[in-house]
Amino acid sequence: MLRIENVDIFYGQAQVAFGLSLAVRPGQFVGLFGRNGSGKSSVFRAIMGLAPPRVSGSIKFKGAEITRKPSFTISKLGVGWVPEDRKIFPNISVWRNLQLGEKSAKDLPRGQKLFGYDDAYRFFPKLREMRDKLGSQMSGGEQQMLTIARTMMGNPALLLLDEPTEGLAPNIAKDVLKMILKIRGDFNTTTIVVEQFSEELLRHLDYCYVMEMGEIIFSGKPHVLLNDEHLQRRLLGVG
Ligand SMILES: Nc1ncnc2c1ncn2[C@@H]1O[C@H](COP(=O)(O)OP(=O)(O)OP(=O)(O)O)[C@@H](O)[C@H]1O
Ligand SMILES: [Mg+2]
Repeated sequence: MLRIENVDIFYGQAQVAFGLSLAVRPGQFVGLFGRNGSGKSSVFRAIMGLAPPRVSGSIKFKGAEITRKPSFTISKLGVGWVPEDRKIFPNISVWRNLQLGEKSAKDLPRGQKLFGYDDAYRFFPKLREMRDKLGSQMSGGEQQMLTIARTMMGNPALLLLDEPTEGLAPNIAKDVLKMILKIRGDFNTTTIVVEQFSEELLRHLDYCYVMEMGEIIFSGKPHVLLNDEHLQRRLLGVG
């Protein structure tokens, strides 16, 4: 589904990622962990073809080279991105926000189960209640739910979630994670999720990567990371 090979990432003269390689197979749930500034979001920006940064190396999606292709092409091809700053449209209603996600949908292969308004409202009942409210009237947690639902309305083949629970109260963060897992359970959407570290999330992943200062310093099965207390302490910044 996605294959990143030997990717370097630069902002101006500054190199922030070094020789990254990473692969995601269809249906997989993959985690990318790392401390602040380790380069996680830059990897997503590189996949999405956003500039900055400048990217060298190879990024293939469904076998086709997408490196440096324009962002709208990449989203049309089926990559859905939920950025860390939750870009909802503040001055339009919740359902119009969802509609905009639907419009970004690519031509879907026949037979694929589609994520629609009913699903958005089923997974996120709060969105049904708030359907006619403006985006700006939503709390942080509600905005996060809306961003995820809106991205799912585009029926992505690959979903990129950048710190989906960051800055949320613990119980709201739990809800958001629960909904992500439910969506995964129902639609089996191939997903990469970025977090600083989350033991709870780790338990649901198929595979995980750890970045430090722009390099991948660990890749492997979740249970290996779960048992590596030293690496976990490094991720949490207490080691
Ligand atoms: N627009 C930019 N211009 C210059 N440098 C940048 C820019 N965006 C990020 N960087 C730098 O690139 C490096 C990686 O940043 P990135 O945002 O990818 O890290 P991150 O792992 O997502 O961090 P966080 O956990 O804080 O979100 C950092 O050193 C950061 O300062
Ligand atoms: Mg980030």
